[in-house]
Amino acid sequence: MAPKFLAEALRKVPQTSHPDLIVGFNHADDAGVYKISDDIALVQTVDFFPPIVDDPYQFGLIAAANALSDIYAMGGKPLTALNIVGFPANLPASILTDILRGGAEKVEEAGAIIIGGHSINDRELKYGIAITGIVDPEKVITNVGAQADDQLYLTKPLGIGLITTGIKRNAVSEEQTQMVINLMAELNRRPAELMVKYHATAATDVTGYGLLGHTFELADGSQKTIRIFSDRLPLLPDALKLAEAGMIPGGALANRQFMENRYLMANKIDNYLEDVLFDPQTSGGLLICIPQKYAESFERELKDKDIFAKHIGQVEAQEAYPLIIV
Ligand code: CO
Ligand code: CO
Ligand code: CO
Repeated sequence: MAPKFLAEALRKVPQTSHPDLIVGFNHADDAGVYKISDDIALVQTVDFFPPIVDDPYQFGLIAAANALSDIYAMGGKPLTALNIVGFPANLPASILTDILRGGAEKVEEAGAIIIGGHSINDRELKYGIAITGIVDPEKVITNVGAQADDQLYLTKPLGIGLITTGIKRNAVSEEQTQMVINLMAELNRRPAELMVKYHATAATDVTGYGLLGHTFELADGSQKTIRIFSDRLPLLPDALKLAEAGMIPGGALANRQFMENRYLMANKIDNYLEDVLFDPQTSGGLLICIPQKYAESFERELKDKDIFAKHIGQVEAQEAYPLIIV
């Protein structure tokens, strides 16, 4: 849903509070966190959407990787999962089998298990997963803890929305289609493990609100300003070309409207690069804040382990704008 509409609807809903609630929905965070003992807190999240690729099995992989990402973004470890299915009555059961097979495989890769689910008849196919994980209550990584001088990293290239829109309009090669599918199906597990090791102060994953939307939530929630280095942003091949060709996903416009007056464009940047900033991502990368003193070792270990993460910005003391793009 458009962020503006959702924010308005949620404003009128009473907020929950409980002594053991660590992260609730008043935090616009990736998952809820609830303490059940001194060393264990539950991390819970749910995510589902209509198919973004034609292949049902690959759709299952992507939907699961996307849902799991919210657990990783909190520094958690996924344990159990529940399937959520909306399925049209006129489609063969084999399609559902393939979707669920993909989902189960990805959940297993994450070291978790599917323990059930719920399905309904639906005019439009939808699939997703609710996941429960655990985290040390002292080590929860929220999206509001960023500190001045933290360095900001992004673990997947941008442009997923542009390319999936291109796929729907037959403007993308088969090779590129498979590349973006693999990227969306990739777990954020390995960079998440490293961010925990190097004392990340804050993190989130880049999904529907795009890079700027999610960085804004992190900066605003942390009461800091984040400077983004536009020339360091990792981009998928042809992302700019597809922006130029008008393959802009529907959500991008709503993202741009929501972000109006919330960022400062300090330098003029390429128009199509600007489109990428608002591009909604499906199963995008983690956005990670690492304290300055650990940044070098974090980068070294990323390199040694061949884990993708680009240094794209830094956290600064709060200024008039929560985001400054240079
Ligand atoms: Co998220
Ligand atoms: Co989510
Ligand atoms: Co039921």
